[in-house]
Amino acid sequence: MNSPAAFLRIGVGDSDLQVIGEEHTRAGENSCLTMWNHYARHSGLCFNDETPDRGIDRYNRWKEDAELLAFLSLRLYRTSISMARVLTEDGKPNLSAIKWYRKYFSQLRSHGITVCATLYHWELPYYAFKMGGWKNRAVVDLFLRHVAVVIEHLADLVDEFFVLNEPWCSAHNSYHAGVHAPGERDLRSALVAAHHLLLAQGRAVRLLRKSLREHRIGTVVNVEPAYAASNSRQDQVAARFADEYMNQWFLEPLFEGRYPERLQRLFGDKMPPFYAEDLEEIRVGGELDMLGLNYYLGKTVRFNEYSDVNFTTIRKLGEQTSSLGWPIYTPPIYPPGLQDVLHQVYTRYSSSGLRELYVTENGIALGGPDFPDELDDQPRIEFLRQHIRQAERARQEGVPLTGFFVWTLIDNYEWAEGYRPQSRFGMIAVDRVSLERRPKKSAFWLKELLEKRRRLQQIPADIRL
Ligand code: BGC
Repeated sequence: MNSPAAFLRIGVGDSDLQVIGEEHTRAGENSCLTMWNHYARHSGLCFNDETPDRGIDRYNRWKEDAELLAFLSLRLYRTSISMARVLTEDGKPNLSAIKWYRKYFSQLRSHGITVCATLYHWELPYYAFKMGGWKNRAVVDLFLRHVAVVIEHLADLVDEFFVLNEPWCSAHNSYHAGVHAPGERDLRSALVAAHHLLLAQGRAVRLLRKSLREHRIGTVVNVEPAYAASNSRQDQVAARFADEYMNQWFLEPLFEGRYPERLQRLFGDKMPPFYAEDLEEIRVGGELDMLGLNYYLGKTVRFNEYSDVNFTTIRKLGEQTSSLGWPIYTPPIYPPGLQDVLHQVYTRYSSSGLRELYVTENGIALGGPDFPDELDDQPRIEFLRQHIRQAERARQEGVPLTGFFVWTLIDNYEWAEGYRPQSRFGMIAVDRVSLERRPKKSAFWLKELLEKRRRLQQIPADIRL
């Protein structure tokens, strides 16, 4: 195990399609239409049919946003490099898009900011969706072409790479639950998509490793610790299924080269046949420098034999929630969900090569009628304080957690929620007409925290003690 850094590094994250303003990249650099844009416009399943076209116009305001990061004393930043931008439909590098990323990343680095780039944060081009999206194995090759273009044209300005963001969402939310693009509702399709995402991830990790010496390489999954609603044997079984479905389906193949056994049995003939050699290619956990966990909430579950996955998430009356209705603490009155899941993942996979963990996303949506003064986001400060504390506790208890990224810098396009006020995760507000940025109270709180921690880090450890 690498010895974890003396301090938890704290940064912030966002993703290209949520901020860029797709209308600008399409017009200015002839980028490809994304599957998400098409879905938002036509499915009827997104809030007010709102698309990522406007975003927050990062395309033109990149300099201002880099300066905001610097002003807030942030030195660690995660964003994504969009496949729909850097790759043309005929597989060539899109030089205009590459030029844009080069100037943005150079600006960030001139402020001493470490640039972490996710290679896929749901920016599938529409033409790839028409080929069947992640259900088509050929999309794996398209993704690898994108990775190769990034290695050749942008890697010198990136410090750390994450291959995928939340493959669970790209597979299950997108092809099983039908709440993300392309909005399908078929378990088998989701399992096929999941397999192709894992294969793309495995091959990309090998390609990055082979081509780059200096970079740290990781990938990102979303995790939700599952708690049984009661002590009954059935609810305990439901919690195990929920854990396998939400967490292990992507981690077990990555670290151990197999899918969770019980859940495979439950899926029965919905489980697609896979080539055994794929699993060897997928198993690259031991080659990662770090694994990123996105953590927002946990689940309380009850057994439900009528569900595909044998569990139902239950909600308790009066529980504390975000403006999107997501429970803040699961089960209620029990804050350490993050601490639990960090231990669970590390304990399970440390013997299969897991060396280091990051929390790559954590944050809370606050907005709408309950927040008439959007700049006063005190509950966000409380939420982040509690979660950073849990992260620090997990470190003290031996989990090699070295990075923590707040989600997100600036209010932006929140996928199926569009620009709905209730879905604002940012520490900086945006006027939706002028797109003017205004830091909220939490941004100043984080700035102060980072500056305090930096001063502390300058004191030699023996004096600090
Ligand atoms: C995604 C982000 C999203 C956030 C809040 C994560 O699932 O990676 O893109 O904005 O959750 O919903």
